[in-house]
Amino acid sequence: MKICIIGSGYVGLVSGACFAEVGHDVICVDNNQGKVDMLKAGKIPIYEPGLEDLVHRNVSAKKLQFTTSTEDAVDKSEVVFIAVPTPPQPDGSVDLSYIEKVAREIAVVLKPGQYRVIVDKSTVPVRTGEKVADTIRRYNKGGADFDVVSNPEFLREGCAVPDLMKPDRIVIGGNSERAIAAMQKIYEPFMAPVLVTDINSAELIKHAANSFLALKISYINAVAQICEASGADVEKVADGIGMDRRIGRNFLNAGIGYGGSCFPKDIAAFIAISDDLGVPFTLLKEVQRINATQRERFLAKIREALWVLKEKKIAVWGLTFKPDTDDVRSSVAVDVVRDLLAEGAIVTVYDPKGMEKATEYKLVEGAILANSPLEAAEGAEALIVATEWKEFAAVNFEELKERMHTPLIFDGRNLLDPVIARSFGFTYTSIGRA
Ligand code: UDX
Ligand code: UDX
Repeated sequence: MKICIIGSGYVGLVSGACFAEVGHDVICVDNNQGKVDMLKAGKIPIYEPGLEDLVHRNVSAKKLQFTTSTEDAVDKSEVVFIAVPTPPQPDGSVDLSYIEKVAREIAVVLKPGQYRVIVDKSTVPVRTGEKVADTIRRYNKGGADFDVVSNPEFLREGCAVPDLMKPDRIVIGGNSERAIAAMQKIYEPFMAPVLVTDINSAELIKHAANSFLALKISYINAVAQICEASGADVEKVADGIGMDRRIGRNFLNAGIGYGGSCFPKDIAAFIAISDDLGVPFTLLKEVQRINATQRERFLAKIREALWVLKEKKIAVWGLTFKPDTDDVRSSVAVDVVRDLLAEGAIVTVYDPKGMEKATEYKLVEGAILANSPLEAAEGAEALIVATEWKEFAAVNFEELKERMHTPLIFDGRNLLDPVIARSFGFTYTSIGRA
């Protein structure tokens, strides 16, 4: 199939590369000339395991191209995906201005007699598809022949390529058999279960799925608080709950809370959507509250141990919102660093992939950036594990203890083994376990 994707960010670029990999002809569009130039020069603007190879291979095979021209891309493509950002507004509701703008851009370039499937891949509130279709109809002069489809994306950053190549399910929301058939053809090579629904249901699935996952995390974090109060071990409790196949062990990892560019925004959006529809989803407000308390409780433990944070040298391992990504957007690790800086601590940070973007976006100004985990820990009075990178778990405890001023570890991701850490003489504190 001939496909174009408007918006070459995390979702658009990875999707485009995977579509090309299974044999489709893909054009990735972006209005950022610098990004397109970079991609054309073979440079990948984001870090995502496996992506670089995939892009290079498919560009060489002429299956994947990049452009800034929506007109050219839409002209050459049977199916047009929209993957532009849908950022949150201050009240939590979704800013749909990029989607609306792209709908208008598509409308003016659609030619009569050229059938096109317009697919929304961005995470959008239920009923956005209807609005996209109305907008295209209104701004198109020649009575274009098109259908709108919703096809939400469930990829996780850090494992986006395998998530896309081997998805649990493909959701196709459409009201036209012709459009659904085109979508099924695109996804046939992925050999994944396909769920066909109406557009509204498909749109709702994305917000409901992400909110449920966040709910699972907040649930285990609330249980972790009870474990701390009672002396139980949240990891054991999570294992015990998770062995029930109806529940499952995934997304039951307690910690300093969920972050990233999806969960915080999607939960806030779902709350705003439900309010708008007159059926407030108050349970999700509690999910948000528990998530916020995890970081506050963690900082309280650090204050309790160090008493005054001002001028204390504290090392933080991790800046990204989770491992195996360079994404530092809405990262709880970044928030922790900022909280410590605000209290006057001297903070030294190390992250394997996140330091460049954190510097670029000026997220941790005032923090000292180290070249390795051990360098960050040099002379520190406490070490905080804020992101669960594997390389942190492989630390040489002996050397770490030698480098630190006082052997105090606060593990916000339950990454290290308490027994091992303590056997090396560390005072070790984590989440929901003694
Ligand atoms: C996507 C989705 O679109 C969002 O709805 C979902 O919730 C998360 O994933 P993401 O791919 O993470 O967003 O966004 P980003 O990495 O910011 O990339 C978006 C790209 O679209 C950028 O490269 C930007 O330059 C481009 N863009 C933006 C356009 O090409 N045209 C526009 O009008 C606006
Ligand atoms: C999420 C969804 O998983 C994905 O399906 C959707 O398309 C986009 O949003 P992503 O934001 O990339 O993906 O990361 P995810 O792995 O879901 O983690 C989100 C946050 O939750 C991270 O901050 C992570 O540290 C946290 N988390 C995850 C926990 O605190 N505990 C867990 O058990 C799992």
